[in-house]
Amino acid sequence: MKKKIKKNIKKNIGKIVKIVSRDQTDVLLNEQKWYKPLKTIVKQAKIQDLEKMRKEAARNPLKFWENAAKELAWMEPWKKVLEEKKAPFYQWFVGGKCNIVENALDRHIGTPIERKNAILWEGNSGKSKRFTYGQLYRAVNRMANGLKHLGVVKGDRVVIYLQNIPETAISMLAAAKIGAVHSVVYGGFSAHALKTRVEDAEAKVVVTSDIGYRRDKTIDMKSIVDEVLQGCKCVQKVIVVKQNNEPTPTAKKRGSRRDTPRRVFPETHMEPHRDVFYNHLIAHESEECPTERMDAEDPLFILYTSGTTGTPKGVVHVHGGYMVGIHKTFQTVFDIQSKDTFWCTADPGWITGHSYTVYAPLMAGITTILFEGVQDYPKPDRLWNMVEKYNVTIFYTAPTLIRALMRYGDQWPKKHNLNSLRLLGSVGEPINPEAWRWYYTVIGQKKCPIMDTWWQTETGMFMITPFVTMSLKASSATKPFPGIQAEVVDAQGKKVAPGKGGYLVIKNPWPAMLRTIYKNPKRYLETYWKKIPGWYLTGDMAHKDKDGYFWIQGRSDDVLKIAGHRIGSVEVESALVSHPSVAEAGVIGKPDPVKGETIKAFVVLKKGVSIGARHGEELKEKLKNHVRHEIGPIAVMEEIEYIDQLPKTRSGKIMRRVLRARELGQDAGDVSTLAD
Ligand code: WTA
Repeated sequence: MKKKIKKNIKKNIGKIVKIVSRDQTDVLLNEQKWYKPLKTIVKQAKIQDLEKMRKEAARNPLKFWENAAKELAWMEPWKKVLEEKKAPFYQWFVGGKCNIVENALDRHIGTPIERKNAILWEGNSGKSKRFTYGQLYRAVNRMANGLKHLGVVKGDRVVIYLQNIPETAISMLAAAKIGAVHSVVYGGFSAHALKTRVEDAEAKVVVTSDIGYRRDKTIDMKSIVDEVLQGCKCVQKVIVVKQNNEPTPTAKKRGSRRDTPRRVFPETHMEPHRDVFYNHLIAHESEECPTERMDAEDPLFILYTSGTTGTPKGVVHVHGGYMVGIHKTFQTVFDIQSKDTFWCTADPGWITGHSYTVYAPLMAGITTILFEGVQDYPKPDRLWNMVEKYNVTIFYTAPTLIRALMRYGDQWPKKHNLNSLRLLGSVGEPINPEAWRWYYTVIGQKKCPIMDTWWQTETGMFMITPFVTMSLKASSATKPFPGIQAEVVDAQGKKVAPGKGGYLVIKNPWPAMLRTIYKNPKRYLETYWKKIPGWYLTGDMAHKDKDGYFWIQGRSDDVLKIAGHRIGSVEVESALVSHPSVAEAGVIGKPDPVKGETIKAFVVLKKGVSIGARHGEELKEKLKNHVRHEIGPIAVMEEIEYIDQLPKTRSGKIMRRVLRARELGQDAGDVSTLAD
């Protein structure tokens, strides 16, 4: 009898094991395979004893960050590293005086770095420009003086609405140099999105261009600004970078006579007393400009980002802590060497562009690449061509771009010599194992480690990230940066067991953290610190494995990640509702193999709006265009479905979770709060 039971158990266990492994083999194999670092990389790494660094930073994080701050130039040293009295309104390097631009530019002048390339820029059409540190320093000073002459003073907000051109970085640095606060608005946003940001920031000046280029299209940037500024009281001056003397790019074959035709573009409308061309503004300005002495806690920039509710949040970053945080993370994670040519494909309109396209590489005194174009224009080897041409050593991009290029096949990267690459990076959304392996094998040729860096607009700097000496697992961002205490917890703030999913939270403050939401400290408290008291709530779901490696699963809230760009469901819904035919709208993200997510909208039409089969389709097109006009082309709306009623809670909140479950054929979970 006993024997029989034992045999049965054995048989059944065998079955269970089989079932589990059949279901999960792929996941387990992918996840648990270790990718060991190459000896050559380890040998030259700056951080030789990472575990020691981790231990020291954990034991005394303030000492760790204080030492990091000492690697930079300060006009006056701080009196206290961290002030916690008004937590979570933390203050770092209290009493210290500094300016990030002193570190990014001034301190390189008169050293051999002055003659090095600071920025290599390549335009959409293939045209390029380069700025040595000396040239960039002088260009920034002229723009800084120009801003001053327009009346910009310390603390004023300057909105920068440009494509990824050198003047974007120059304007950021110029504003920061004189103590103004920049707020870069991504050049792919359109009127409504720009307007809410300009108004919330109460900008005094807007820097824009007459037109912008994207693939074979020309974007009429100045007209968008003119539309936005109608009736706007705060903006006094508009600086216009002239672009329309550039040849219009086309995808035609080289040598063809129509390769670069001059586009006849109507004269830019310039509003008298308000608008000034950038070239005219800086024409007679001095190449020297004193750098404003800023308090470590004075704001450096406001960057708007999407949240779960309401309008985008103005995330505020300051000079002192921010420069320390991004400098330390950049130098150590990417193991920066003086000869590096670093290319982060992020547009300066996003946080990645602020921290790691513009500021950190300049502080490190290396060459950074700015690229106006897109990855597959004119051909899918555009990026690999540039890696080869500029001898890029570190390439940092987003998974959506990797997936898009992977689809075109290996023949495109294989056309180019990518041997200059030493390290690769990924950011913006979880990178799936398949894309990770392609990036590692085909682009990195199995010799470049992939730094999958997890962080946010709010964190300012990398928070969970590998180091070059670590063994990697495809798709894991690995471990918290030294001095950062990250955890996965349940809704009550209790740590969950390894392998279990939960909310990703951060315990202790870090120097580059956001200081507040502009003009809305209450929202800062409520969004990040109230839901799980004592912890900073990231809004992401994650799990930690038995080796302490973190796996980010995606957002836990209604923030969408469309091709790595952060957009709130609410923003898209309000754009839809602003159309005269729409009564209500509910928006969800639908998984997409390339973009990560795309938008699906459920629309309730206003009473009396009749739609036959044809009209319904026409209206859908109109609605898509309307959203594009309001937010910008990044709000890619794949699908619209008309419904009679949206699922709502009794208090009237749209239950997007129910819409999502219905769409994806999943269980909607607890629906007890559903009104109807
Ligand atoms: C997501 C971008 C997985 C995450 C720097 C986060 C990531 C949001 C990663 C912030 C990564 C960023 N792996 N997910 N390596 N990096 N995310 O503010 O959901 O545009 O909360 O900052 O991007 O987006 P944001």
